[in-house]
Amino acid sequence: METVVSGIRSTGKLHLGNYYGALSNFVKMQNDYNCFFFIADLHSLTTHPAPQDLQSTVRNVVIEYLAAGIDPEKSTIYVQSDVPEVAELYLYMNMNAYLGELERSTSFKDKVRSNPDNVNAGLLTYPVLMACDILLHHATKVPVGKDQEQHLEMTRTFGNRFNHLYKVDYFKEAFAFSYAQKLVKVPGLSGQGKMGKSNGEADCIYLSDTPEIIRKKIMRAVSDSGPTEPNQVKPESIQNLFDLMKVASSTDTLSHFDDLYNKCEIRYGDFKKQLAEDMVIATDPVRSRIEEISKDEEYIKKALKFGADKASASAQKTLREVREIIGIKKLF
Ligand code: ADP
Ligand code: TRP
Repeated sequence: METVVSGIRSTGKLHLGNYYGALSNFVKMQNDYNCFFFIADLHSLTTHPAPQDLQSTVRNVVIEYLAAGIDPEKSTIYVQSDVPEVAELYLYMNMNAYLGELERSTSFKDKVRSNPDNVNAGLLTYPVLMACDILLHHATKVPVGKDQEQHLEMTRTFGNRFNHLYKVDYFKEAFAFSYAQKLVKVPGLSGQGKMGKSNGEADCIYLSDTPEIIRKKIMRAVSDSGPTEPNQVKPESIQNLFDLMKVASSTDTLSHFDDLYNKCEIRYGDFKKQLAEDMVIATDPVRSRIEEISKDEEYIKKALKFGADKASASAQKTLREVREIIGIKKLF
Protein backbone atom coordinates (compact mmCIF):
# COMPACT_ATOMS: atom_id res chain seq x y z
CA MET A 1 0.00 0.00 0.00
CA GLU A 2 1.31 3.47 -0.89
CA THR A 3 2.26 5.79 1.94
CA VAL A 4 0.89 9.31 2.38
CA VAL A 5 2.40 12.09 4.49
CA SER A 6 1.14 15.61 5.06
CA GLY A 7 1.24 18.28 7.72
CA ILE A 8 -0.09 21.72 8.54
CA ARG A 9 1.86 24.29 10.51
CA SER A 10 0.57 24.97 14.00
CA THR A 11 0.29 28.73 13.66
CA GLY A 12 -3.34 29.02 14.73
CA LYS A 13 -6.80 27.94 13.77
CA LEU A 14 -7.33 26.18 10.43
CA HIS A 15 -9.14 28.06 7.66
CA LEU A 16 -11.07 26.98 4.58
CA GLY A 17 -7.89 27.06 2.48
CA ASN A 18 -6.30 24.49 4.79
CA TYR A 19 -9.53 22.51 4.74
CA TYR A 20 -10.14 22.31 0.99
CA GLY A 21 -6.44 22.30 0.04
CA ALA A 22 -5.30 19.71 2.57
CA LEU A 23 -7.49 18.41 5.41
CA SER A 24 -10.53 17.27 3.39
CA ASN A 25 -8.19 15.12 1.26
CA PHE A 26 -6.54 13.68 4.39
CA VAL A 27 -9.90 12.40 5.53
CA LYS A 28 -10.71 10.71 2.22
CA MET A 29 -7.22 9.23 1.76
CA GLN A 30 -7.13 7.41 5.06
CA ASN A 31 -9.31 4.58 3.74
CA ASP A 32 -7.04 3.82 0.80
CA TYR A 33 -3.50 4.52 1.97
CA ASN A 34 -1.07 4.12 4.83
CA CYS A 35 -1.38 7.71 6.14
CA PHE A 36 0.80 9.86 8.40
CA PHE A 37 -0.70 13.27 9.28
CA PHE A 38 1.27 15.51 11.56
CA ILE A 39 1.20 18.99 13.09
CA ALA A 40 4.26 20.90 11.94
CA ASP A 41 5.24 22.64 15.18
CA LEU A 42 8.96 22.68 14.29
CA HIS A 43 8.18 24.52 11.07
CA SER A 44 6.21 27.11 12.99
CA LEU A 45 9.37 28.08 14.94
CA THR A 46 10.60 30.09 11.95
CA THR A 47 8.30 32.91 13.11
CA HIS A 48 9.32 32.67 16.81
CA PRO A 49 5.96 31.95 18.51
CA ALA A 50 5.81 32.62 22.26
CA PRO A 51 6.61 29.39 24.20
CA GLN A 52 3.32 29.60 26.12
CA ASP A 53 1.38 29.71 22.81
CA LEU A 54 3.10 26.80 21.09
CA GLN A 55 1.34 23.97 22.90
CA SER A 56 -2.11 25.52 22.67
CA THR A 57 -1.84 26.08 18.90
CA VAL A 58 -0.67 22.47 18.45
CA ARG A 59 -3.66 21.32 20.51
CA ASN A 60 -6.04 23.39 18.36
CA VAL A 61 -4.81 21.81 15.16
CA VAL A 62 -4.98 18.28 16.62
CA ILE A 63 -8.59 18.92 17.63
CA GLU A 64 -9.41 20.23 14.16
CA TYR A 65 -7.80 17.18 12.50
CA LEU A 66 -9.90 14.88 14.66
CA ALA A 67 -13.03 17.00 14.20
CA ALA A 68 -12.67 16.92 10.41
CA GLY A 69 -12.78 13.13 10.58
CA ILE A 70 -9.22 11.85 10.78
CA ASP A 71 -9.49 8.56 12.60
CA PRO A 72 -6.49 7.74 14.81
CA GLU A 73 -7.22 4.04 14.33
CA LYS A 74 -6.83 4.36 10.56
CA SER A 75 -4.20 7.10 10.24
CA THR A 76 -1.11 7.97 12.23
CA ILE A 77 -1.67 11.44 13.75
CA TYR A 78 1.36 12.92 15.46
CA VAL A 79 3.12 16.11 16.48
CA GLN A 80 6.30 16.71 14.47
CA SER A 81 8.44 17.40 17.57
CA ASP A 82 7.36 14.08 19.13
CA VAL A 83 9.47 12.36 16.47
CA PRO A 84 12.90 14.04 16.82
CA GLU A 85 14.43 11.70 14.19
CA VAL A 86 13.19 14.23 11.63
CA ALA A 87 15.67 16.78 13.02
CA GLU A 88 18.56 14.35 12.53
CA LEU A 89 17.49 13.60 8.96
CA TYR A 90 17.20 17.36 8.39
CA LEU A 91 20.84 17.77 9.41
CA TYR A 92 21.97 15.11 6.90
CA MET A 93 19.78 16.42 4.08
CA ASN A 94 21.01 19.98 4.61
CA MET A 95 24.37 18.79 3.28
CA ASN A 96 22.74 18.11 -0.09
CA ALA A 97 20.67 21.28 -0.39
CA TYR A 98 22.35 24.15 -2.21
CA LEU A 99 22.09 27.82 -1.30
CA GLY A 100 21.10 28.88 -4.82
CA GLU A 101 18.11 26.55 -5.09
CA LEU A 102 16.90 27.41 -1.58
CA GLU A 103 17.13 31.14 -2.32
CA ARG A 104 15.13 30.67 -5.53
CA SER A 105 12.15 29.11 -3.68
CA THR A 106 9.05 31.26 -4.18
CA SER A 107 7.89 30.86 -0.58
CA PHE A 108 11.32 31.97 0.70
CA LYS A 109 11.31 35.02 -1.58
CA ASP A 110 7.76 35.88 -0.40
CA LYS A 111 8.83 35.66 3.24
CA VAL A 112 11.91 37.82 2.63
CA ARG A 113 9.67 40.44 1.06
CA SER A 114 6.95 40.32 3.75
CA ASN A 115 9.30 39.92 6.73
CA PRO A 116 12.70 41.44 5.96
CA ASP A 117 13.69 41.59 9.65
CA ASN A 118 13.52 37.84 10.19
CA VAL A 119 15.32 36.14 7.32
CA ASN A 120 16.69 33.26 9.40
CA ALA A 121 18.40 30.06 8.23
CA GLY A 122 15.40 27.99 9.35
CA LEU A 123 13.29 29.88 6.86
CA LEU A 124 15.84 29.27 4.10
CA THR A 125 15.98 25.53 4.83
CA TYR A 126 12.22 25.19 5.48
CA PRO A 127 11.85 23.06 2.30
CA VAL A 128 14.59 20.69 3.55
CA LEU A 129 12.71 20.00 6.79
CA MET A 130 9.51 19.54 4.79
CA ALA A 131 11.30 17.08 2.49
CA CYS A 132 12.47 15.18 5.57
CA ASP A 133 8.89 14.91 6.90
CA ILE A 134 8.01 13.16 3.65
CA LEU A 135 11.18 11.08 3.15
CA LEU A 136 11.11 9.91 6.77
CA HIS A 137 8.18 7.60 6.00
CA HIS A 138 8.95 6.96 2.28
CA ALA A 139 5.72 8.62 1.17
CA THR A 140 4.78 8.81 -2.50
CA LYS A 141 1.64 10.97 -2.18
CA VAL A 142 1.33 14.31 -0.38
CA PRO A 143 -2.09 16.00 -0.10
CA VAL A 144 -1.43 19.76 -0.20
CA GLY A 145 -2.72 22.94 -1.82
CA LYS A 146 -1.33 24.49 -4.99
CA ASP A 147 1.10 26.69 -3.05
CA GLN A 148 3.14 23.66 -1.94
CA GLU A 149 3.89 22.27 -5.40
CA GLN A 150 7.37 23.76 -5.58
CA HIS A 151 8.24 22.28 -2.19
CA LEU A 152 7.33 18.84 -3.52
CA GLU A 153 9.60 19.36 -6.50
CA MET A 154 12.43 20.24 -4.10
CA THR A 155 11.66 17.12 -2.05
CA ARG A 156 12.17 14.98 -5.16
CA THR A 157 15.41 16.81 -5.93
CA PHE A 158 16.83 16.24 -2.44
CA GLY A 159 15.82 12.58 -2.35
CA ASN A 160 17.20 11.88 -5.83
CA ARG A 161 20.42 13.70 -5.01
CA PHE A 162 20.89 11.57 -1.90
CA ASN A 163 20.31 8.41 -3.96
CA HIS A 164 22.80 9.58 -6.56
CA LEU A 165 25.47 10.66 -4.06
CA TYR A 166 25.41 7.35 -2.20
CA LYS A 167 24.64 5.21 -5.28
CA VAL A 168 21.50 3.76 -3.72
CA ASP A 169 17.86 3.53 -4.72
CA TYR A 170 16.60 4.44 -1.28
CA PHE A 171 14.26 7.45 -1.28
CA LYS A 172 11.12 7.36 -3.41
CA GLU A 173 9.69 10.29 -5.37
CA ALA A 174 6.65 11.96 -3.80
CA PHE A 175 4.01 13.94 -5.68
CA ALA A 176 1.39 16.46 -4.61
CA PHE A 177 -2.09 14.95 -4.48
CA SER A 178 -5.68 16.13 -4.52
CA TYR A 179 -8.98 14.39 -5.26
CA ALA A 180 -9.93 17.55 -7.20
CA GLN A 181 -8.81 17.61 -10.84
CA LYS A 182 -6.25 20.33 -10.09
CA LEU A 183 -4.47 21.28 -6.87
CA VAL A 184 -6.72 23.65 -4.95
CA LYS A 185 -6.12 27.35 -4.32
CA VAL A 186 -8.81 28.89 -2.11
CA PRO A 187 -8.85 32.69 -2.40
CA GLY A 188 -9.05 34.99 0.62
CA LEU A 189 -11.78 37.51 1.43
CA SER A 190 -9.56 40.58 1.10
CA GLY A 191 -9.84 40.46 -2.69
CA GLN A 192 -6.24 39.45 -3.37
CA GLY A 193 -4.39 36.17 -3.45
CA LYS A 194 -4.91 32.95 -1.50
CA MET A 195 -6.61 32.68 1.86
CA GLY A 196 -3.82 32.72 4.43
CA LYS A 197 -3.36 33.20 8.16
CA SER A 198 -0.72 35.84 7.57
CA ASN A 199 -3.24 38.07 5.73
CA GLY A 200 -5.20 38.69 8.93
CA GLU A 201 -8.43 37.50 10.54
CA ALA A 202 -10.75 39.16 8.01
CA ASP A 203 -9.16 37.30 5.07
CA CYS A 204 -10.00 33.87 6.48
CA ILE A 205 -13.06 31.81 7.28
CA TYR A 206 -11.95 29.54 10.12
CA LEU A 207 -13.39 26.07 10.70
CA SER A 208 -14.18 27.22 14.23
CA ASP A 209 -15.95 30.47 13.19
CA THR A 210 -19.57 30.65 14.32
CA PRO A 211 -22.30 31.05 11.66
CA GLU A 212 -22.73 34.70 12.72
CA ILE A 213 -19.03 35.42 12.18
CA ILE A 214 -19.02 33.62 8.82
CA ARG A 215 -22.00 35.71 7.65
CA LYS A 216 -20.38 38.94 8.83
CA LYS A 217 -17.05 38.17 7.16
CA ILE A 218 -18.66 37.27 3.83
CA MET A 219 -20.92 40.33 3.81
CA ARG A 220 -17.83 42.49 4.38
CA ALA A 221 -15.71 40.74 1.71
CA VAL A 222 -14.33 43.06 -0.96
CA SER A 223 -16.57 43.38 -4.06
CA ASP A 224 -17.29 46.20 -6.55
CA SER A 225 -20.24 48.18 -7.88
CA GLY A 226 -21.27 45.42 -10.30
CA PRO A 227 -20.89 44.59 -14.00
CA THR A 228 -21.90 47.20 -16.53
CA GLU A 229 -21.63 45.14 -19.73
CA PRO A 230 -22.89 41.62 -20.48
CA ASN A 231 -20.29 38.81 -20.16
CA GLN A 232 -17.74 41.18 -18.71
CA VAL A 233 -14.49 39.62 -17.39
CA LYS A 234 -14.65 39.51 -13.59
CA PRO A 235 -12.14 41.59 -11.61
CA GLU A 236 -9.99 39.62 -9.11
CA SER A 237 -12.09 40.37 -6.03
CA ILE A 238 -15.29 39.14 -7.73
CA GLN A 239 -13.63 36.14 -9.34
CA ASN A 240 -12.39 35.20 -5.84
CA LEU A 241 -15.93 35.17 -4.46
CA PHE A 242 -17.01 32.96 -7.36
CA ASP A 243 -14.05 30.67 -6.68
CA LEU A 244 -15.13 30.41 -3.03
CA MET A 245 -18.60 29.52 -4.23
CA LYS A 246 -17.01 26.80 -6.40
CA VAL A 247 -15.62 25.06 -3.31
CA ALA A 248 -18.56 25.52 -0.94
CA SER A 249 -21.74 25.56 -3.08
CA SER A 250 -23.41 23.28 -5.62
CA THR A 251 -22.66 23.65 -9.35
CA ASP A 252 -26.29 24.75 -9.91
CA THR A 253 -25.93 27.61 -7.45
CA LEU A 254 -22.65 28.64 -9.04
CA SER A 255 -24.03 28.69 -12.58
CA HIS A 256 -27.17 30.54 -11.40
CA PHE A 257 -25.09 33.45 -10.08
CA ASP A 258 -22.69 33.26 -13.01
CA ASP A 259 -25.65 33.73 -15.39
CA LEU A 260 -26.93 36.67 -13.35
CA TYR A 261 -23.45 38.25 -13.47
CA ASN A 262 -23.25 37.77 -17.23
CA LYS A 263 -26.68 39.40 -17.66
CA CYS A 264 -25.66 42.27 -15.34
CA GLU A 265 -28.51 41.31 -13.02
CA ILE A 266 -26.48 40.08 -10.07
CA ARG A 267 -27.16 41.58 -6.64
CA TYR A 268 -24.09 41.10 -4.51
CA GLY A 269 -26.16 41.12 -1.31
CA ASP A 270 -28.08 38.00 -2.42
CA PHE A 271 -24.95 36.40 -3.85
CA LYS A 272 -23.01 36.86 -0.61
CA LYS A 273 -25.94 35.69 1.51
CA GLN A 274 -26.10 32.44 -0.47
CA LEU A 275 -22.32 31.98 -0.25
CA ALA A 276 -22.39 32.55 3.52
CA GLU A 277 -25.20 30.03 4.05
CA ASP A 278 -23.41 27.39 1.95
CA MET A 279 -20.24 27.95 3.97
CA VAL A 280 -22.11 27.63 7.24
CA ILE A 281 -23.52 24.31 6.02
CA ALA A 282 -20.13 23.08 4.74
CA THR A 283 -18.37 23.80 8.04
CA ASP A 284 -21.18 22.81 10.39
CA PRO A 285 -20.19 19.16 11.06
CA VAL A 286 -16.57 20.10 11.80
CA ARG A 287 -17.59 23.04 14.01
CA SER A 288 -19.79 20.98 16.28
CA ARG A 289 -17.20 18.20 16.56
CA ILE A 290 -14.53 20.78 17.53
CA GLU A 291 -16.56 21.67 20.61
CA GLU A 292 -17.14 18.02 21.47
CA ILE A 293 -13.53 16.89 21.08
CA SER A 294 -12.11 19.91 22.96
CA LYS A 295 -13.76 18.54 26.08
CA ASP A 296 -12.33 15.03 25.64
CA GLU A 297 -8.77 15.39 26.92
CA GLU A 298 -8.27 11.63 27.22
CA TYR A 299 -9.19 10.99 23.57
CA ILE A 300 -6.74 13.69 22.39
CA LYS A 301 -3.91 12.36 24.53
CA LYS A 302 -4.52 8.75 23.55
CA ALA A 303 -4.58 9.59 19.83
CA LEU A 304 -1.31 11.51 20.05
CA LYS A 305 0.53 8.93 22.14
CA PHE A 306 -0.57 6.13 19.79
CA GLY A 307 0.43 8.24 16.76
CA ALA A 308 3.81 9.25 18.20
CA ASP A 309 4.69 5.60 18.84
CA LYS A 310 3.74 4.50 15.33
CA ALA A 311 5.53 7.42 13.65
CA SER A 312 8.63 6.89 15.83
CA ALA A 313 8.90 3.25 14.83
CA SER A 314 8.80 4.21 11.14
CA ALA A 315 11.28 7.10 11.67
CA GLN A 316 13.75 5.03 13.69
CA LYS A 317 13.93 2.41 10.97
CA THR A 318 14.64 5.10 8.34
CA LEU A 319 17.35 6.75 10.44
CA ARG A 320 19.09 3.42 11.09
CA GLU A 321 19.19 2.82 7.34
CA VAL A 322 20.24 6.37 6.48
CA ARG A 323 23.14 6.32 8.98
CA GLU A 324 24.26 3.04 7.48
CA ILE A 325 24.13 4.45 3.93
CA ILE A 326 26.03 7.60 4.93
CA GLY A 327 28.64 5.56 6.80
CA ILE A 328 27.93 6.78 10.32
CA LYS A 329 28.98 3.87 12.50
CA LYS A 330 30.01 3.73 16.11
CA LEU A 331 33.70 3.03 16.73
CA PHE A 332 33.08 1.61 20.19
P1 ADP B 1 -1.24 29.32 5.67
O1 ADP B 1 -0.98 29.55 4.22
O2 ADP B 1 -2.51 29.88 6.14
O3 ADP B 1 -0.07 29.71 6.54
P2 ADP B 1 -0.25 26.65 5.75
O4 ADP B 1 0.88 27.20 4.95
O5 ADP B 1 0.06 26.14 7.10
O6 ADP B 1 -1.38 27.75 5.82
O7 ADP B 1 -0.94 25.51 4.87
C1 ADP B 1 -1.21 24.21 5.29
C2 ADP B 1 -1.84 23.43 4.16
O8 ADP B 1 -3.00 24.09 3.71
C3 ADP B 1 -0.95 23.25 2.92
O9 ADP B 1 -1.19 21.99 2.34
C4 ADP B 1 -1.41 24.33 2.00
O10 ADP B 1 -1.19 24.03 0.64
C5 ADP B 1 -2.88 24.38 2.31
N1 ADP B 1 -3.41 25.73 2.07
C6 ADP B 1 -3.19 26.84 2.82
N2 ADP B 1 -3.85 27.90 2.31
C7 ADP B 1 -4.51 27.43 1.20
C8 ADP B 1 -5.37 28.03 0.25
N3 ADP B 1 -5.73 29.31 0.36
N4 ADP B 1 -5.85 27.26 -0.74
C9 ADP B 1 -5.52 25.95 -0.84
N5 ADP B 1 -4.71 25.32 0.03
C10 ADP B 1 -4.21 26.04 1.03
N1 TRP C 1 4.94 23.48 4.30
C1 TRP C 1 3.61 23.09 4.56
C2 TRP C 1 2.75 24.36 4.64
O1 TRP C 1 3.17 25.40 4.95
C3 TRP C 1 3.46 22.34 5.84
C4 TRP C 1 4.28 21.10 5.82
C5 TRP C 1 5.41 20.86 6.54
C6 TRP C 1 4.04 19.93 5.03
N2 TRP C 1 5.90 19.64 6.25
C7 TRP C 1 5.08 19.04 5.34
C8 TRP C 1 3.06 19.57 4.12
C9 TRP C 1 5.17 17.78 4.75
C10 TRP C 1 3.15 18.32 3.52
C11 TRP C 1 4.19 17.43 3.83
O2 TRP C 1 1.63 24.28 4.36
